[in-house]
Amino acid sequence: MTTGLESRTGAPARAQAQRGGARAQAGEVVVRELALAYDSRAGAGVHALADVSLSARAGQLLAVVGPSGCGKTTLLELLCGLRAPQRGSITAPAAVLMPQRDLLLPWLDALDNAALALRIGGCARAHARARAAELFLELGLQGFERSRPHELSGGMRQRVAFVRTLLSGKALLCLDEPFGALDALTRADMQRWLERALAREPRTVVLVTHDVEEAIVLADRVAVLSPRPGRVVAQLEVELERPRSAGDPAVIALRGRALRALAQGAVA
Ligand SMILES: Nc1ncnc2c1ncn2[C@@H]1O[C@H](COP(=O)(O)OP(=O)(O)OP(=O)(O)O)[C@@H](O)[C@H]1O
Ligand SMILES: [Mg+2]
Repeated sequence: MTTGLESRTGAPARAQAQRGGARAQAGEVVVRELALAYDSRAGAGVHALADVSLSARAGQLLAVVGPSGCGKTTLLELLCGLRAPQRGSITAPAAVLMPQRDLLLPWLDALDNAALALRIGGCARAHARARAAELFLELGLQGFERSRPHELSGGMRQRVAFVRTLLSGKALLCLDEPFGALDALTRADMQRWLERALAREPRTVVLVTHDVEEAIVLADRVAVLSPRPGRVVAQLEVELERPRSAGDPAVIALRGRALRALAQGAVA
């Protein structure tokens, strides 16, 4: 299906978003010349994204790195159809967003939080909880099914939010800084379970991160964005065996290339 989209300012639609088409069903993501500016009360408007083109094949993990405020969250919201582009096109399958903050509901226990997407989709509570419980076991959350979010560590909350994202059943997962608030050790653990989870349930993933090393360790491809308005200053292919180690010379070399692209993007 192709949908012509009006910009938020009511300007003639020049953007296109395709969802559920033949290519999209295959899980591929193709973004072409995407641009978005926010209205601003001060009048000038904020150009968040300018001319962003990137792509990921089905089942690939595309990492997006860039400085704060360069439009990474905006890009994920566009991919998930939560915003309409003002220019450019998006081809993507049905997508789900794991937001930058975990947004668990404090009055539900961990299992009900994880099962939320299934429940919203009409699944009976017992069945939804049983499906979430299987993933709890695999992600080391067993024993905390009945805990409320405030009783969980940051890493556990992130895992619960990830189970919820995974159980949405969507072909494209858009993960916004999923490990941003965690210490280095927990972060490394989380990276390993993300890899395991994706090996078990392959999906196309767009992962936003500030951490270039994390991008290289996890991704098949890394898109480096410039400061606002974000545009792609480099796309790196990461063709290294998994699991990867941050200390691996090939990882260190690619990290250096990404950091140089970031620095060049900042002065361009
Ligand atoms: N709803 C909004 N209304 C107006 N401006 C917005 C809105 N959301 C984001 N912006 C602006 O758009 C720009 C890009 O924001 P965005 O949240 O996409 O950046 P980001 O790369 O995700 O940043 P961070 O790394 O800090 O999360 C910023 O200048 C921000 O102030
Ligand atoms: Mg953000």
